[in-house]
Amino acid sequence: MNGYRVGIVGATGVVGREALRVLQERNFPASTLKLFASSRSAGRRIGSHVVEEASRAAFHDLELVIFDTPDEVARELVPLAAAAGAIVIDNSAAFRMEPDVPLVIPEVNAEALRHAPRRIIANPNCTTATIAVPLAPLHKAAGLRRLIACSYQSVSGAGQRGVEQLWAELQEAGASRRTPDRPRGSAFAEPIALNVIPAVGSLRGATFSEETKVAAELRKMLSAPRLPVGVTCVRVPTLVAHGVAVHAEFEQPLDAAQARKLLAAAPGVELVDDPAAGRVPTTLAAAGRDPCLVGRIRTDEAGCLAFFAVADNLRKGAALNAVQIAEHLIEMGLVTSKVTS
Ligand SMILES: NC(=O)c1ccc[n+]([C@@H]2O[C@H](COP(=O)([O-])OP(=O)(O)OC[C@H]3O[C@@H](n4cnc5c(N)ncnc54)[C@H](OP(=O)(O)O)[C@@H]3O)[C@@H](O)[C@H]2O)c1
Repeated sequence: MNGYRVGIVGATGVVGREALRVLQERNFPASTLKLFASSRSAGRRIGSHVVEEASRAAFHDLELVIFDTPDEVARELVPLAAAAGAIVIDNSAAFRMEPDVPLVIPEVNAEALRHAPRRIIANPNCTTATIAVPLAPLHKAAGLRRLIACSYQSVSGAGQRGVEQLWAELQEAGASRRTPDRPRGSAFAEPIALNVIPAVGSLRGATFSEETKVAAELRKMLSAPRLPVGVTCVRVPTLVAHGVAVHAEFEQPLDAAQARKLLAAAPGVELVDDPAAGRVPTTLAAAGRDPCLVGRIRTDEAGCLAFFAVADNLRKGAALNAVQIAEHLIEMGLVTSKVTS
């Protein structure tokens, strides 16, 4: 059968399972699809597939491998998969800021795929993606000068453990009609049910790691190395999709009507922008869908162009973007199938 020999590493996690769904939904031309996870999951079945342990020997003969594992696992295994001849699309943060690893959202900077000397391509952080998809066409038109962004991030952004902690706490709170007094899981140090936690990632000085990642990744993808970016990342008790309030200043004048026109034509963006009619972008509306929903477009009282963007963190923030990168690699002739029988 014609097609590409594809692997997903971390296939039992929330992003890995979504990657499998997205490959199937989009009829990705895979002649073989292998699923890998840790030794804990070896032998487990996902649909018709049997999960194998990811090991040094696992990657021979694969042409495209999507990694959906924690950073430390990616750091060890991604170079092995690339050395075995595969092109690797990595969803972790392990390689995103390395100068010889392109960090790509196809709608923003697909051309960067041409320069992947290590055969590794990084997928941005899910909050970065939610901001970058609508911001890129505005930056191209008017030149970003300064950016402030505040996120509202769902628990699935912290993986399967995040989802389990929220459900455990919600069930207990529903039964007792009391707010949780301590966390019922290991994903968040505070209870997340009926709560809002302004701490995502690990603290470095005055900034949390998620905030540092978003700023650095936006600068890299938008080719704006000196862009001043202020970010506050907040975990909220939603299951899927991240929302971001964005306030941006541009070099050239850009009013709400011009921004709306640019965003209406932007790939990967869907306008949901009629607050008077009750149409605002919500996380429930974005969950399970491909586009980044954008609304509340206005000039704020500080003179910034402001909007609210929501995108499914497991799809555009991770699995869908990785599959779109793979599709672009094929379209651009940057990966060729070795298997024809
Ligand atoms: N969740 C999001 O919204 C999101 C968005 C963008 C990027 N990311 C990144 O994507 C990656 C995966 O995140 P996730 O949310 O899907 O996490 P998750 O639900 O915790 O899943 C982690 C996956 O990694 C596997 N794994 C762990 N240790 C392994 C090992 N030693 N060898 C092979 N596989 C191993 C796990 O397998 P077992 O089941 O066998 O333990 C599981 O399949 C992370 O780097 C995360 O930062 C996540």
